[in-house]
Amino acid sequence: MTFDISNIEQQSQSLIQEAEGLISQANSMDELKQTKQDLMGDKSPLSQMHRKIGTLEPEQRKQIGRLLNEVKERIDGLVSKRREELEAQESLGQRQESQMDLTEVLLFSTSATAALGYLTRGHMHLVTQTQIELEDTFVGMGFFVAEGPEVETDWYNFEALNMPPDHPARGMWDTFYLNLGAPESILLRTHTSPVQIHLMESAVQGEDGLPIYAVMPGRCYRRDTPDARHIPVFHQIEGLVVDKGITFADLAGTIEAFTTAYFGSSIHSRLRPSYFPFTEPSAEFEITCTICEGVGCRTCSNTGWIELGGCGMVNPRVFDAVGIDSLVWSGFAFGFGIDRCAQMRYQIADMRQMLENDVRFLYQF
Ligand code: DAH
Repeated sequence: MTFDISNIEQQSQSLIQEAEGLISQANSMDELKQTKQDLMGDKSPLSQMHRKIGTLEPEQRKQIGRLLNEVKERIDGLVSKRREELEAQESLGQRQESQMDLTEVLLFSTSATAALGYLTRGHMHLVTQTQIELEDTFVGMGFFVAEGPEVETDWYNFEALNMPPDHPARGMWDTFYLNLGAPESILLRTHTSPVQIHLMESAVQGEDGLPIYAVMPGRCYRRDTPDARHIPVFHQIEGLVVDKGITFADLAGTIEAFTTAYFGSSIHSRLRPSYFPFTEPSAEFEITCTICEGVGCRTCSNTGWIELGGCGMVNPRVFDAVGIDSLVWSGFAFGFGIDRCAQMRYQIADMRQMLENDVRFLYQF
């Protein structure tokens, strides 16, 4: 805008109007600074006007000088007002950014957890819950709980349990060996039965002594191809009683007492002849089918019974291996799957779900 002294009033007016438009369009502090520079800086029309008034008559100079000062004050005022607005907007934005909405529902990002739609507290895995319930049941019957190592030598897993090298019964357990070919095999235990050996050894050698009334829960490993009823890592609970005068009737009575205590009074047990190298005689124990309650259904092949585990009287050869006199002491042992127990109690169709950790499955228990 060029400066023409003859219509200074009008020019001042349009300068103010132009300033109003530009200032209101400045959307940040930086933009506002630039606009102010354009309107009032050295190269601005306003400064040019100021510089020219030096050439005017004193009276005119005074009058126009006052007018230009008014314009300058007006623009200054507009800039300050806009600055305040921008500052208010900025601090509101910052507050909104830093605020947390405590009522907001958090969504998971994985597809499995997204199905639940919200954040839940974790809880114990079904197998852990089942193990604790089983332990509680046996503790209520007078047993104590013991544990043993998952990595075993051949002697504990097989030999002391009356399975010398090359014994055909070893074929019942497909074993993960950790050092194939070495003089003494190290392996992942295929069952919890080796804990019986540890317990009896320490009873004989240590202070605890006999009798023993113990249950031994823990993880076991087998080279099984996973299917609906087999997984390569599973859990068993082993039982061992060693005392004077223990008979097969004590075994049968203990199994029945456990069955009704754990599964309820409508579920019973029965024993059928079987073979295990570490017990003599040996049996499989079955319980009333939990799905049909003994009436007969597809799961129990219409027999009304389902196999839960193995049991028997401790073989005197096992007592020999640990140095217990089998003419003085007798005992019984049993072992069954904890995962299998949970599967029957909750009618879980496929065992592999125990390992998959899909929260939609886990959350139900
Ligand atoms: N250890 C056996 C298995 O894994 C189960 C078993 C059978 C345990 C008989 C026992 C027993 O204590 O007496 O198949």
